[in-house]
Amino acid sequence: MQTLLLDIKKDENAVKLAAKIIKDGGLVAFPTETVYGLGANALDEKSCKKIYEAKGRPSDNPIIVHVANEEMAEKIAFLNDDAKTLMKHFSPGPLTYILKAKDEINETVRGGLKTVGVRIPSNKVAHSLIKEANLPIAAPSANISGRPSPTRAKDVIFDLENKIDCILIDENTSVGLESTIVDVSSPNIKILRPGIITKEEIEKVLKKEVNAINIPTKELVAPGMKYRHYAPEARLIIVSGEEEKVVNRINELTKKEEKVGVICCDETYDKYKSSYKVSLGSRKDYKTIAKNLFLAFRCMNELEVNLIYCESFKRVGVGEAIMNRLIKAANDNIMTL
Ligand code: TXA
Ligand code: MG
Repeated sequence: MQTLLLDIKKDENAVKLAAKIIKDGGLVAFPTETVYGLGANALDEKSCKKIYEAKGRPSDNPIIVHVANEEMAEKIAFLNDDAKTLMKHFSPGPLTYILKAKDEINETVRGGLKTVGVRIPSNKVAHSLIKEANLPIAAPSANISGRPSPTRAKDVIFDLENKIDCILIDENTSVGLESTIVDVSSPNIKILRPGIITKEEIEKVLKKEVNAINIPTKELVAPGMKYRHYAPEARLIIVSGEEEKVVNRINELTKKEEKVGVICCDETYDKYKSSYKVSLGSRKDYKTIAKNLFLAFRCMNELEVNLIYCESFKRVGVGEAIMNRLIKAANDNIMTL
């Protein structure tokens, strides 16, 4: 299949053409504020099935549905008071609500569950694509299953060119990590996947405590969270401890093997001897660290390193989301000094 590449900046009809492809049952990758998504008409089961094929995604993993506004959300799901309160504060934006699904949402999107994940993206292109198609758009991250979510159009092209109908090319995504997923389908509210909207922010708005599913865990999380995920090609090991100890140990370890990558931060970058190092940004700014994480994984792939050591981050606020992705990518491989 030849993939139509449409550049938002160069082609003023790009969104119109892409919306037509969605309406006709095709697959379109598009930017959102979190990561690029791979979209299909959420109301057409046959189109949604193609998403699983293109990504190589396990079929029990449900897909988030993207809508333009609350009114469109109500057409596909039951919105309770908690959902409405959160929507007022956080939508459009990087928060996905798990809600009881209406019959409009097919089995393929729900992955066999009675609920559906709904998100109102704030990215302008994503919003106009939904508006123009006038349809809810089912979209997982636009990567081959298991790889890091794409934050650049080039990552989407690398993973999915010739496997889908169209890719909307735009700037790098601004958040860089997938949305926070909050299950509001019952009064016992749970965060199923941490993101840049934190548990504390959600609790403040709802004026009550919510539960967070800690990873690693055997508890029920978002079905997709049980698979190895977000991973760079090379084995990833997290090194945790006091800064000086971590730097020294990683330097010792990188001496022993060839082509070992280091993922670190601005504060330590110059202290590492490896020539394959990437900084995620300053430790003073966890949002930037989050934004650059998947990008760093993809850069490590491009550098073709054999092994990667990565510094650890505090599991507070956005740090919870950073460590969630890191630990999954490292397959729980943490060296504590
Ligand atoms: O930021 C994002 O959420 C991006 C952009 C494209 O919107 N999308 C994204 O989709 O990350 P995906 O498919 O890569 O991750 C969605 C996660 C999966 O772990 C899936 O299991 C979970 O959401 N999920 C979807 N529907 C669910 C449901 N009804 N109940 C529980 N978890 C659900
Ligand atoms: Mg994904």
